[in-house]
Amino acid sequence: MKHELIEKNVGLLAVFTAVAITFGGLVEIVPLMNDKAVTTPAPGLQLRAPLEVAGRDVYLREGCYLCHSQMVRTLAEEVLRYGPPTSAGETVYDHPFQWGSKRTGPDLANVGGRYSDEWHRIHLMNPRDVVPESIMPGFPWLAKIKYQPGEAAAMMHALREVGVPYTDADIAKADADTVGKTEMDALIAYLQSLRVPEAAKTAAVATPAGHGGSP
Ligand code: HEC
Repeated sequence: MKHELIEKNVGLLAVFTAVAITFGGLVEIVPLMNDKAVTTPAPGLQLRAPLEVAGRDVYLREGCYLCHSQMVRTLAEEVLRYGPPTSAGETVYDHPFQWGSKRTGPDLANVGGRYSDEWHRIHLMNPRDVVPESIMPGFPWLAKIKYQPGEAAAMMHALREVGVPYTDADIAKADADTVGKTEMDALIAYLQSLRVPEAAKTAAVATPAGHGGSP
């Protein structure tokens, strides 16, 4: 009877729906705000080098995230295909993070070291030269655009504003690492940096529950 009353009264239904959603949201979101595991860097996590920071910018600008996720889920088939599952601590220096969920292409969370720089270069120029059935677009223009002084430093300053702990000395090295290099070089350096830090892998084995559990 009471159920029927709610179903037939739109106003009442809206109020109860709002209450249910609010309660669900609080239960899901509030504990995360106090969970240090999502804001503490994973063991062994390195700050990105200036060229990698620049490459990440290219990744965002070209919309690579529209087809690639960077988050290995804890499911057995994912771990077998892509490697160790991703923990939040591995991406605390990423603003915005690139976990995503759209996978037209494979997940890239652990792609670093899977291929040589040369493979990436050929693949990014024209994917079909190495993967004949590929539907990924080519990005040949990246090989023509070179970094100017100050560009990478500006990106690092911006990241520092949102909490990435770059020192002045780190930022001072930005030009030496990037000037004269192409956006293609930077993107490849970034792709090669995408991998779980060794120390975090060991920690994940030691405490599987804290890292999303074993598959
Ligand atoms: C329209 C969707 C699409 C876009 C946009 C796209 N990719 Fe891909 N990507 C794919 C597909 C599909 C594959 C699998 C076939 C292949 O290897 O080419 C792939 C494969 C890859 C691989 C090889 C992964 C592996 O484990 O074998 C890398 C690396 C990669 N893409 C990087 C990039 C980067 C960097 C960008 C942005 C500059 C990008 N992709 C943009 C669809 C896309």
